[in-house]
Amino acid sequence: MKTAARVFLLGLLAPLVAMGCERKVTNEVTEIVSPDVSFYVGSDACQACHPSLHASFMKTGHPFKLNDADDVQDPNYYPFSTVQNPPDLAWSEIDLVIGGFWWKARYIRADGRIYTGPNRQYNLRPDNLAPPEFVKYETDTPGTKDYDCGRCHTTGYKAQGNQDGKPGLIGTWASNGIQCEACHGPGGVHANSPYDVRMVIDRSNELCGKCHVRGAVNTIPAQGGFIRHHEQWNEMFTTKHSGIQCVTCHDPHIGLHPSNPDRDMAIRLQCENCHMKETKSFENSSILHYDAGITCEDCHMPKASKSAVAIGTYEADVATHLWRINTDANAEMFTPDGKFANGYLTLNFACSRCHPAKTLGELSSDAANVHE
Ligand code: HEC
Ligand code: HEC
Ligand code: HEC
Ligand code: HEC
Ligand code: HEC
Ligand code: HEC
Ligand code: HEC
Ligand code: HEC
Repeated sequence: MKTAARVFLLGLLAPLVAMGCERKVTNEVTEIVSPDVSFYVGSDACQACHPSLHASFMKTGHPFKLNDADDVQDPNYYPFSTVQNPPDLAWSEIDLVIGGFWWKARYIRADGRIYTGPNRQYNLRPDNLAPPEFVKYETDTPGTKDYDCGRCHTTGYKAQGNQDGKPGLIGTWASNGIQCEACHGPGGVHANSPYDVRMVIDRSNELCGKCHVRGAVNTIPAQGGFIRHHEQWNEMFTTKHSGIQCVTCHDPHIGLHPSNPDRDMAIRLQCENCHMKETKSFENSSILHYDAGITCEDCHMPKASKSAVAIGTYEADVATHLWRINTDANAEMFTPDGKFANGYLTLNFACSRCHPAKTLGELSSDAANVHE
C-alpha cells in the first residue's frame, strides 16, 4: 500500500517539478509538501476522511464568509440563521452574499461590486432583542463599491486579477469563505496520499491574526464609542495573554455562535483552568456574583466591540479580548479623539450594564471586593 501511494505521489510531483518548481523530491517516506507544490481542492474533499471535523466546522462562521446568492435562498443553508434580500432588490439582482452567519450580511451584484446606501446591510440580531432589520451600508445615497475584502474572506487569495473576470471582485481565490485550506494550506496532494503527505498545522497567533486584525497590530482602532470589530489580535496583543495562542483557548473547528449546540466545547481551556487563585477569590467574595451565575467573561470579556449593533451605551455585539479591567474611576476607555482604545476595560464597560445606577466612584470601591 505504502509503496503504491508513494509511486503515485512521485508521479504527481514529477511534472510539477519539471514545470519549474525548485522543490527537491527526497527519499523520505513522509513528505511535507510546500503550498506551491500542492493545489486547492476545497473542504468537500476533506469530508470523506475527516467527517466529524468537517461536520463541526460547517457550524462555524468561517466557511460562510462569502456565499452564492442561490445557496443563501435555501432556508437550510446557514446553520443558525436565514438572510433576506433587501426590500428593493430582487434575488436575481444579487450574485453573492457577504456573511450572514452571525452578525450581518451585505450584497454583491453581477459585476462584483458591493451595493451601498439605504437598506444594503442586514443586521441579524442573534441576541433576539429585536427582529432582524435592514440598515444603510456606508452612505445615504445608493451606490456601489469594490469588493476588496477577499484576503480575509476567501481561501487561496491572490491580490492580482479579478475573480471570475468581474471588475468589482478584487483579486482571485480558490474558494469562497475561510475553508480548511485557508489554515492548513492546499490539500490536493494530501487528499490523494494522506499518509505520505502531511498537512501544515500552524498554531501561531499570526495565522488567526492575519484576518482578526485591523491596521497596525499595536493599536486598537475605535469608532462611535466602541472598539471596532475583527480586532481580536490587536486587542490581545496589548495584554499578558499575548504569550498564549488563540488556539490555546479556541478549538478552531468548533464555533461560538450563540445557537450552536456545541458552543460549550468551542473553548478548550476555561479561565478557571489557568487562574485558580482569582477563581477562588471570586467564588469566596462577599459579593455574591458567583452564586448569581455571573461568569468571568461577563466582566472580563463584555461586548465592547461593535460589528452590527449597539445594545446600550456600553454594550455592542462582539466580545472584547482586552480582559484587563482598570478600576480607576477616572480611567478613559478611549483616546480623546475617540479613534483608539487605551488597552484596558473601564468600569462602565465591565460593570455598568448590570449596575446602571452605580456611579463610577461606587463601582471603583466595589471593584476591590470582586476578588477577595
Ligand atoms: C482567512 C481569514 C481568517 C483566518 C486565517 C481566521 N479567521 Fe476566524 N474569522 C474570519 C472571518 C471573516 C470570520 C467571520 C465569519 C462569519 O461570521 O461569516 C471569522 C470568524 C471567527 C470566529 C467566530 C465564528 C464562529 O463560528 O465561532 C471565531 C471564534 C474565529 N473566527 C476564530 C479564529 C481562530 C482561532 C483562527 C486561527 C486558528 C482564525 N479564526 C483564523 C476570518 C479568518
Ligand atoms: C481557522 C483555521 C483552521 C481551519 C479553517 C481548519 N483548521 Fe484544522 N486545525 C487548525 C489548527 C490551528 C489546528 C491545530 C489545533 C491544535 O491546537 O491542536 C488544526 C488541527 C487539525 C487536524 C489535526 C488535529 C485534530 O484535531 O485531529 C486536522 C485533521 C484538521 N485540523 C483538519 C481540518 C479540516 C478537515 C478542516 C476543514 C473541515 C479544518 N481543519 C479547518 C486550524 C484550522
Ligand atoms: C483520503 C483520506 C483523506 C483526505 C481526503 C484528507 N485527509 Fe487529512 N488526513 C488523513 C489521514 C489518514 C491523516 C492522518 C495521517 C497520519 O496520521 O499520518 C490525516 C491528517 C490530516 C491533518 C493532520 C496533519 C497531518 O498531515 O498528519 C490535517 C491538518 C489534515 N489531515 C487536513 C486535511 C484537509 C484540510 C483535507 C482536505 C483538503 C484533508 N485532510 C483530506 C486522511 C485524509
Ligand atoms: C483584515 C481582515 C478583514 C477585512 C479586510 C474585511 N473583513 Fe469582514 N470580517 C473579518 C473578520 C475576522 C470578521 C469576524 C470577526 C469580527 O467581526 O470581529 C468579519 C466579519 C464581517 C461580516 C459579518 C459576518 C457575519 O456572518 O455576521 C461582514 C458582513 C463583513 N465582515 C464584511 C466585510 C466587507 C464588506 C469587507 C470589505 C469592504 C470586509 N468585511 C473586510 C475580517 C475582515
Ligand atoms: C492557558 C492559560 C490561560 C487561560 C485559559 C486564561 N488565562 Fe488569563 N492569563 C494567563 C497568563 C499566563 C497571564 C499572565 C499572568 C501574569 O503575567 O501575571 C494571564 C493574565 C490575565 C489577566 C491580566 C491581563 C493583563 O494584561 O494585565 C486577566 C485579566 C486574565 N488573564 C483573565 C482571564 C480570563 C477572564 C480568562 C478566561 C476568558 C483567562 N484569563 C484565561 C493565562 C491564561
Ligand atoms: C463582577 C466582575 C468580575 C468577574 C465576574 C470576574 N472578575 Fe476578575 N477582575 C475583576 C476586576 C474588577 C479586576 C481588577 C481587580 C483589581 O485590580 O483589584 C479583576 C482582576 C482579575 C485578574 C487580574 C489579576 C491581576 O493580578 O492583574 C484575573 C486574572 C481575573 N480577574 C480573573 C478572573 C476569573 C478567572 C474570573 C472567573 C472565575 C473572574 N476574574 C471573574 C472583575 C471580575
Ligand atoms: C484566554 C482565552 C482566549 C484567547 C487567548 C482568545 N480567545 Fe477568542 N474568545 C474567548 C472566549 C471565552 C470567547 C467567548 C466570549 C463569550 O462568552 O462571549 C471568545 C470569542 C471569540 C470570538 C467571537 C466573538 C464573540 O462575540 O463571541 C472571536 C471571533 C474570537 N474569540 C477570536 C479570537 C482570536 C482571533 C484570538 C487570537 C488573536 C482569540 N480569540 C484569543 C477566549 C479566548
Ligand atoms: C452580568 C451582570 C453583572 C456584571 C457585569 C457585574 N455585576 Fe455586580 N452584580 C450582579 C448581580 C446579579 C448581583 C446580585 C448578586 C446578589 O447579591 O445576589 C450583583 C451584585 C453586586 C454587588 C453587591 C450588591 C450591590 O448592588 O451593591 C456589588 C458591589 C457589585 N455587584 C459590583 C460589581 C462591579 C464592581 C462590577 C464590575 C467590575 C460588577 N458588579 C459587574 C450582576 C453583575
